Amino acid sequence: MSATPAHAATGEAVNPWVALAYLVAGIFFILALRGLSSPSTSRTGNRFGMAGMLIAVVTTLVTHDIANIVEIGIAIAIGGLIGFLIARRIAMTAMPELVAAFHSLVGLAAVLVGWAAYLNPAAFGLVASTFNFTAEMRDGSTIAGGYGIISPVSKIEMGLGIAIGAITFSGSVIAFLKLSGKMSGSPILLPFRHVINLVTLAAIIVLTALFAMANGPAETLPLIVAMTVLAFAIGFLLIIPIGGADMPVVVSMLNSYSGWAAAAMGFTLGNTAMIITGALVGSSGAILSYIMCRAMNRSFLSVIAGGFGADASSGGSTEGGEQRPYKQGSAADAAFMLEQAEKVIIIPGYGMAVAQAQHALREMADLLEEKGVEVKYAIHPVAGRMPGHMNVLLAEAQVPYENVFELEDINSEFAQADVAFIIGANDVVNPAAKTDKSSPIYGMPVFDVDKAKQVFFIKRSMGGVGYAGVDNDVFYMDQTMMLLSDAKKMVEEIVKALD
Ligand code: TAP
Repeated sequence: MSATPAHAATGEAVNPWVALAYLVAGIFFILALRGLSSPSTSRTGNRFGMAGMLIAVVTTLVTHDIANIVEIGIAIAIGGLIGFLIARRIAMTAMPELVAAFHSLVGLAAVLVGWAAYLNPAAFGLVASTFNFTAEMRDGSTIAGGYGIISPVSKIEMGLGIAIGAITFSGSVIAFLKLSGKMSGSPILLPFRHVINLVTLAAIIVLTALFAMANGPAETLPLIVAMTVLAFAIGFLLIIPIGGADMPVVVSMLNSYSGWAAAAMGFTLGNTAMIITGALVGSSGAILSYIMCRAMNRSFLSVIAGGFGADASSGGSTEGGEQRPYKQGSAADAAFMLEQAEKVIIIPGYGMAVAQAQHALREMADLLEEKGVEVKYAIHPVAGRMPGHMNVLLAEAQVPYENVFELEDINSEFAQADVAFIIGANDVVNPAAKTDKSSPIYGMPVFDVDKAKQVFFIKRSMGGVGYAGVDNDVFYMDQTMMLLSDAKKMVEEIVKALD
């Protein structure tokens, strides 16, 4: 199968209709990002994204000299079916690992396109000139040969695409393994890791520069092989030192890398749509990573540099520590006290998503409001397992947006709250983040639930810990009542008792 790029490195003119169609697709992608910035417009955003992608794919297919459209049709049908089935079956709580798995495919695609362009530059319109030679053999016969010379600029684009793609691939595979629990979420800290990372990165840059200047397979092949292997290695090295609580930042950072890999691939293929899309994904992922870093009180540079700042003492788990006394209550106790309250702040977390308790929770809040209780929802930026996880669930249960507040807007209100109602959240309310320097969540802003008059804590057992694997002093506070049960079951019982 071969395809002719719309704009080849040889200077072939770009068809203005193709450029226009790609521009329209780019505008749709920007509208999609705009729509996805709020739960109320996210569906429209998704539709814009789908329309933009359709325009980009159809334009590419009809304006390129496609050798075998049937093969492409079959590939799209198989990929589309797999995507459809995965999207239907995936649990919302497994979304981050799915996203990491998808990013790994984007990275791998960039590596494969880069290598395909290197091995067959003519098919990608990348041959700037050809080098022909004849050689005389010992028996007097002559053989003729030659190879296409790729311009240094195209080789730099190719090298960038392969390097960023390989980093995205191996980094995303490690992120997938950590997020899905197939590999320990604790940071793995190699000795001299920063030196190893810096030397590897410098070696990749030097090899790419040498590759851009070299010509002919004998010179270029060892350089591109070494560069690819080192790029796979550094993706791995950058992600293994990152601990559980910082994984949200890693997911959005790899999202950004996958965008830059696609943009670099767009330069290699001379495809404007890929450059625009890649740059949009790359920059929006970088902005999201920055926002997540601020939310987690982490330095952006330290996270992209691969766990800078993590030290050997962090990452320890206090799971299974000594038994401490705690108070346990029932749904009837909780309902009684909720009815007496004037102000209740609900803090949802990952457990609410697991239990799918959002609809019952909304019913409970409605009943309390009918009884004159003020109810607000407090959302931590990393609650759950993906950015916006809690907002999506609450929107699904039609909780009014005006009752939902971000951490910095509501944290000062806990002092006036009668009840902090924690449902399936743990790390985001753990005071160790403020007090325990050895804790993996140290430095992350958390809700000041200890300032509320009473704290209700719904979780299934005292043994279970949050994502970061650390015990929580809130369980043992005087004003805390543990409601040990599945979140949905407990809230349904509270609703019954309130009714
Ligand atoms: P976690 O700290 O993970 O705590 C979840 C709590 O839910 C646990 O106490 C668990 O205890 C309880 N739980 C689980 N299933 C339950 C059920 N069916 N019913 C009732 N309770 C249940 O959650 P969080 O406070 O939302 O914090 C999020 C954590 O995930 C942070 O550390 C964050 O860094 C990390 N993370 C976030 C993201 C994004 S982007 N949001 C991505 C990856 C990782 P039991 O087992 O005892 O029930």
